[in-house]
Amino acid sequence: MTTRTQTTSLKQFRISNCLSHFATALLFLAGAQSFAQEGHTYTSEAIENGSRIYVRQCALCHGLGGGLIAGINLSGGRFRNAVTDDDLGRVISQGTAEGRMPPSNLSGADLDGVIAYIRVGFDPESGDVRIGNAANGRKLYEGKGECIDCHRIKGRGPRTAPDLSDIGLTRSPAALQRSLLDPTAALLPINRPVTLVTRDKETIVGRRLNEDTYTVQLIDSEERLRSLVKADLVSYEISDTATHQPTTLSNDEVADLIAYLLALKGEL
Ligand code: HEC
Ligand code: HEC
Repeated sequence: MTTRTQTTSLKQFRISNCLSHFATALLFLAGAQSFAQEGHTYTSEAIENGSRIYVRQCALCHGLGGGLIAGINLSGGRFRNAVTDDDLGRVISQGTAEGRMPPSNLSGADLDGVIAYIRVGFDPESGDVRIGNAANGRKLYEGKGECIDCHRIKGRGPRTAPDLSDIGLTRSPAALQRSLLDPTAALLPINRPVTLVTRDKETIVGRRLNEDTYTVQLIDSEERLRSLVKADLVSYEISDTATHQPTTLSNDEVADLIAYLLALKGEL
């Protein structure tokens, strides 16, 4: 990690501030705000140290999940201004928002640790997950990976599989990697495929959107939204096996896809 200058002159500060806005704009245009910095991995010691400091010094305001302050989601990588690790370091050591976030006394390994903890989405396992190139990831998503055949992003693609438009806000790098390499282990309860048979002997295969004691809402294999009363069903099976097969893409390709998915934060 690069060294941070604590005493930046006003002029330098303005320039770097300006550059970082410019960088934000560029990344925004490319549709790829990076979550963890490309090609970066953080050591598990740093992440663990960072998690302890975070809980003691930051969680009070930002919450244990990092999303308590409006417009900012620390575990999801959503910031107002910060783009690079240096920007984060500056905010954390100098404070922001006219003192509503006070300056901290963190420096060196402690500061790096908190940044690492934020960058890996508060998930210690993500330290070893390689983040590739988001632009390549997007090409894979739409091409060779065939992800677009099932998933939907910002209105494009079918509704049969989970909508991934803001997956970068809600999943850590490690969770995304698991979804690709070991889908059944990563399968969330709500995403379990279901097979229902109605009293009229119709068999419906689909994915649940919502469920309560008496009813279940789902998207069927023809992308129709169905709402069914459980009392009208003769059978209702919830599978433990993911629809996904473990991916056959290479490690580099998986890293690129993870970078692309992490950049999806529900904007636009
Ligand atoms: C006393 C409350 C408080 C504490 C403690 C606090 N923060 Fe903040 N933090 C804030 C507020 C308020 C903002 C700015 C919100 C805004 O811009 O409107 C903020 C903003 C941030 C941002 C976003 C910067 C950006 O560009 O959007 C980061 C990153 C951050 N805090 C990290 C931390 C870390 C790490 C710690 C612990 C070392 C911490 N904060 C402790 C209140 C706090
Ligand atoms: C045949 C349809 C299909 C294809 C192709 C497909 N997926 Fe999926 N995906 C699903 C379904 C259905 C789920 C819900 C879990 C399950 O059943 O595996 C899912 C789950 C996921 C999840 C987890 C979502 C969550 O909420 O955590 C991610 C991430 C994901 N897919 C990414 C991808 C990527 C990247 C590709 C391309 C390499 C891809 N998928 C290709 C159907 C598909």
